[in-house]
Amino acid sequence: MNYLSIVGGQRLQGRVQISGAKNSALKLMAASLLGHGETVLTNVPRISDVFTMVEVLQRLGATVAFDGDVLRIDTSGEISTVAPYDLVRRMRASINVLGPLLARSGHARVAMPGGCNIGSRTIDMHEAGLTQLGVKFTFDHGYLEGIAERLLGKRVLLEFPSRGATENLMTAAVLAEGVTVIENAAREPDIIDLASFLNAMGAEVWGAGTSTIEITGVPRMHSTSYRVSADPIEAGTFALAVLTTGGEAELVGAQPETMEIFLEKLELAGAQWAPIEDGIRVSGDHRAHAVDFATLPYPGFPTDLQPQMMGYLITAEGTSIVTENVFENRFAHAQELVRMGADIRTEGHHAVIRGVRRLQGAPVKGSDLRAGAALVVAALAAEGQTEVHDFHHVERGYEDFAGKLRGLGASVELVEETTSLPV
Ligand code: UD1
Repeated sequence: MNYLSIVGGQRLQGRVQISGAKNSALKLMAASLLGHGETVLTNVPRISDVFTMVEVLQRLGATVAFDGDVLRIDTSGEISTVAPYDLVRRMRASINVLGPLLARSGHARVAMPGGCNIGSRTIDMHEAGLTQLGVKFTFDHGYLEGIAERLLGKRVLLEFPSRGATENLMTAAVLAEGVTVIENAAREPDIIDLASFLNAMGAEVWGAGTSTIEITGVPRMHSTSYRVSADPIEAGTFALAVLTTGGEAELVGAQPETMEIFLEKLELAGAQWAPIEDGIRVSGDHRAHAVDFATLPYPGFPTDLQPQMMGYLITAEGTSIVTENVFENRFAHAQELVRMGADIRTEGHHAVIRGVRRLQGAPVKGSDLRAGAALVVAALAAEGQTEVHDFHHVERGYEDFAGKLRGLGASVELVEETTSLPV
């Protein structure tokens, strides 16, 4: 177990390379099961969630090689249809093998997922949608088992634009007979990445990035090569890390068109940003102004940047109101930020932040991936030393976070935990 030690107060500046998106890479890896040859993915981030998905694929029978940012997945051998609990519990995205396995083999037995502790996160919409395509589900001993003798295209209306449900429906429908229409589909950039990848494998997917996705089933698909898009959440996190120190940096590879509302909120907070040839430049040389924001599915403000945005706004001038609409339990970081001197009150899915001038470094605990990142953002602006414990959560989604921050001039060090924290 590691913790990140941060001495705040350094102004961050320079250039930082943004890695491939975690939430694209994981879906493309799962969807590689639809081919019968070697998939080559490039720009894959070296993060622990990707290593977990490598293990999931290997356990299913794929041969996987990961060299630098190039991931080769060979699915030409026999593929098992059972995704076991010891892997799935580590990462909710393991559920993304459900659609591909049902399409490829007509059977899937997948342990109910784990992942970040930010809400109940059921998979009822995945189940309901796939049932409409002809899958029969049973649930026993913590496992969901699906059998599909035949997958038939249908119109499926999602109750909420769930990313996971949209993805499992897409990856099942590509090999179904006839046309599937997904209404109220998720519109995130990783859905577009998945559709482009599936089409490169020979699928016929239209409308990804809009609320209606239409898929005409094809009899078989082939393996392909694909470059994973840049991670908008990593880019947003680095923007906030830089701005909270009054710094200036270029986020290389970041795509502003995938971060519009977030960048608008930065402007409202008084920061500057501009597109550059190979990314985005951000700068902010004075104290931020308070901003209200509410999380919503894309193109709304991403819930995955809500904690880090709070880490930035706690030192803003004025009062900010945050509304979390996607997860029912995503303010765990607030009490840790309060330990650093922030003034935050939470009530249900609202948080009120009264900006303070100064934060003080303290030992704190990141209880999930983005909560940990929020504490790092806050620590960069705090006086003295902060220790962000349970840092393995952050390593699930950020490649070489400490090294990249150091490259911008931050004083951070990854330390091996020798004693357990007092509770
Ligand atoms: C994905 C992202 C995650 C992000 C989330 C919301 C990946 C690997 N993870 O998670 O980083 O925080 O989108 O943008 O891409 N829900 C149900 N029933 C379902 C499915 C979802 O009630 O069958 C609820 C969830 O509990 C949650 C909301 O819908 O409250 C959003 O879930 P969803 O969009 O499915 O998120 P994930 O795909 O799990």
